[in-house]
Order: sequence, then structure tokens, then C-alpha cells
Amino acid sequence: MKLETDALDLLFREARAHNKFTDEPVTDEQLQALYDILKMGPTSANSSPARFLFLRTQEARQKLAPALSAGNRDKTLAAPVTVIVAYDPKFYEKLPQLFPQNPDARAWFTSNDSLAATTAFRNGTLQGAYLILAARAVGLDTGPMSGFDNAMVDELFLADRGWRSNFLCNLGRGDPTNLPARPPRLAFDEACMLL
Ligand SMILES: Cc1cc2nc3c(=O)[nH]c(=O)nc-3n(C[C@H](O)[C@H](O)[C@H](O)COP(=O)(O)O)c2cc1C
Repeated sequence: MKLETDALDLLFREARAHNKFTDEPVTDEQLQALYDILKMGPTSANSSPARFLFLRTQEARQKLAPALSAGNRDKTLAAPVTVIVAYDPKFYEKLPQLFPQNPDARAWFTSNDSLAATTAFRNGTLQGAYLILAARAVGLDTGPMSGFDNAMVDELFLADRGWRSNFLCNLGRGDPTNLPARPPRLAFDEACMLL
């Protein structure tokens, strides 16, 4: 089975990082559908360390505002939804549920802090990428952002659960007005090696 050209355009070739969104609201049902797709993306030992905070209200975004870089502030306050893509450094506590085929899996991480940290960040980041592609698949556009103060976001939103922020992502229906030209990508020979 193979994706048709239109689907590849939607997911990759025509999709852009958006700065501006229309007023069309994003529903809770769309967010649920988005999560139900992205959660199926692979992670090591099915660890699924990513956690997602969907900021849907102006009040929630105002709380985020002081942590945003100047270039990301206004567009984020104007977006229909902003997601805090976070991860749980103690993801391994859920391995008995998530990876029942190996009862030893939790101990791989409780006995090795460095492996736990790498696994949380690597797989949490992958799940952030799945979020971007799943959003496009359900007809939404995205504006991912790393220009913010992670420590402040952790303190403001995540301290009680011990989760950590990775990146932010605005969601909505993109308005392509004033979208800058698409930056080029590396050619195959620059980025790939055939060995
Ligand atoms: C993890 C991540 C962080 C990003 N951070 C920012 C950001 O802080 N501000 C911003 O305007 N764009 C940000 N971008 C958007 C990129 O600059 C954009 O995706 C890239 O230039 C390619 O443009 P295109 O996606 O429209 O092809 C980010 C993208 C990703 C994936």
C-alpha cells in the first residue's frame, strides 16, 4: 500500500510551518482524533513518554505568554490552540501497562538514569513529530516553536506532575497570507550516504 500524491502533498510537500491562522476553531473532537492517530507512532519499548497540554483558551495562552520569545508571542496568542509538547522523565512507571511482554522493562530505566533521560527525550521528540504529521492528516496546520523559556513553562504548567517541556506547537487552519517563501532543503547527496 502506498500514499497517493495528494496525501504526500498534505503531509510533507505542500505543508508549511504557519505563523497565522484563520478564526476557524479547533474542536476537542479534532484534538482527540489527533491524539488517537499520533499515539500509534512507534516509540522504544512502547515507552510513549510524550505528554500534551492543549491550551485552548485565551486565559491558558496568557499564562504562557511571559515564557514566549518576542517573535513567537503575538502569533501564539492569536492561534486557536497551542500545544505544549512535553515528556514524562518517569515514563518508565507506565511500562508494566505499556510493555507487558517484558516485566523487566521498568528496571532497564530505573537502573540507568542516562538511558532513561535519552529515551524520554528521543521518543518524546519523535511523538512531537507524529503530532505535526497527525495534525496535517486531520486537516489542521501547525506552527512548531522552540523559541521559549523551557524552565518557565515547566514551572508554570508542569511542576506538579514533574513533566518537562520539549517544544510548543500552534494548531489551526493556516492562513497563508504573508507566509515567507519556503526555505530550501538539503539535497540527497548533502544529507545522505549510501553505504
Ligand atoms: C522543533 C521546531 C522548532 C521551531 N521553532 C520555531 C520558532 O521558535 N519560531 C518560528 O517562527 N518557527 C519555528 N519553527 C519553524 C521552522 O523554522 C520551519 O519549520 C522551517 O523553517 C521550515 O519551514 P517550513 O516548515 O514552512 O517548510 C520550528 C520548527 C520546529 C520543527
